Amino acid sequence: MSFRTIEWRDDAVIMIDQTRLPGEEIYNTYTDFKAVADAIRGMIIRGAPAIGVAAAMGIALGARNIIADTHESFFRQLENVCDVMAHTRPTAINLFWGIQRMRQVAEANRDKKLEQIREILKKEAIRIEEEDLTICRNIGKWGATLIPEGATVLTHCNAGGLATAGYGTALGVIRAAHEAGKNIRVFADETRPWLQGARLTAWELMKAGIPTTLISDNMAGFFMQRGEITCCVVGADRIAANGDTANKIGTYSVAVLAKENNIPFYVAAPVSTLDLTLSDGSKIPIEERPASEVTHIKGIAIAPEGVSVRNPSFDVTPARYISAIITENGIVKDDFRTELRRIAGA
Ligand code: MRU
Repeated sequence: MSFRTIEWRDDAVIMIDQTRLPGEEIYNTYTDFKAVADAIRGMIIRGAPAIGVAAAMGIALGARNIIADTHESFFRQLENVCDVMAHTRPTAINLFWGIQRMRQVAEANRDKKLEQIREILKKEAIRIEEEDLTICRNIGKWGATLIPEGATVLTHCNAGGLATAGYGTALGVIRAAHEAGKNIRVFADETRPWLQGARLTAWELMKAGIPTTLISDNMAGFFMQRGEITCCVVGADRIAANGDTANKIGTYSVAVLAKENNIPFYVAAPVSTLDLTLSDGSKIPIEERPASEVTHIKGIAIAPEGVSVRNPSFDVTPARYISAIITENGIVKDDFRTELRRIAGA
């Protein structure tokens, strides 16, 4: 990869600033967990698996900086660090998964010296990042089998290297198909209001040399109706036990359009995106973001001042619109409720 989304280096966390792309490729350095939490909230890092890694690294940073005489004090402060991380963004389950994994590792090593616990937490955060790369490559390997030679693949938002530790889920599938020598092209929805498709997906696919065409969100139906789209592949922020999938706002519309036009609609996500505690998607918490993301572009007003605005950041695509869910452990095509459990090893 020609960029690093997030890494631990010299006792600091380095992230590419995704609010500045594609214009500027700037890497920020973080040594304070509260600044990492702000970076997640402020979308400097975004995408479900990437924010899981960021939360884990933020906790490792927090643990380094805790001043404590006793284990009791250390663990009380560590819980506060976890709590700050948990209050950044509500929808992507990977954030809570990352926090829980760090909590459990700390607990399992409670009898060790504080210095050792700090080191163990740092290593665990780095491991989560490294594992994500392997997971995404496996998602890619499975998913590529669904992409025919010569396909035009439509994707929404950015479920790429920038949204993970570096390879991507939906874009991992696309990368793997491309690497396998399939002659494919991508249509990238621009993804209003935050423009992840235009700013991030187009940027990273062009860097990877994968032919990419940018369209605005309201053009997807036009191209599907004309037979120009072979299949759709998107990522996920949380998948309920029945397969209902929360992903970037607009994903539901793409899925409905795909069904209407008999186009396969695939979701690519790691097992850590499954939330088997939720029986269906109606229970998934949906983040609402500031009105300014809708009324302004780069600080310039595109709507009258004072207009009423809604800005839900995600929507839920019912499982009946999803042709398959691609995970690192394999592909689930039907009977999601049983098969997702099996693939998660639950
Ligand atoms: O608001 P964002 O940019 O964090 O939303 C990202 C998405 O919706 C992605 O599609 C999802 O997190 C999957 S990333 C592999």
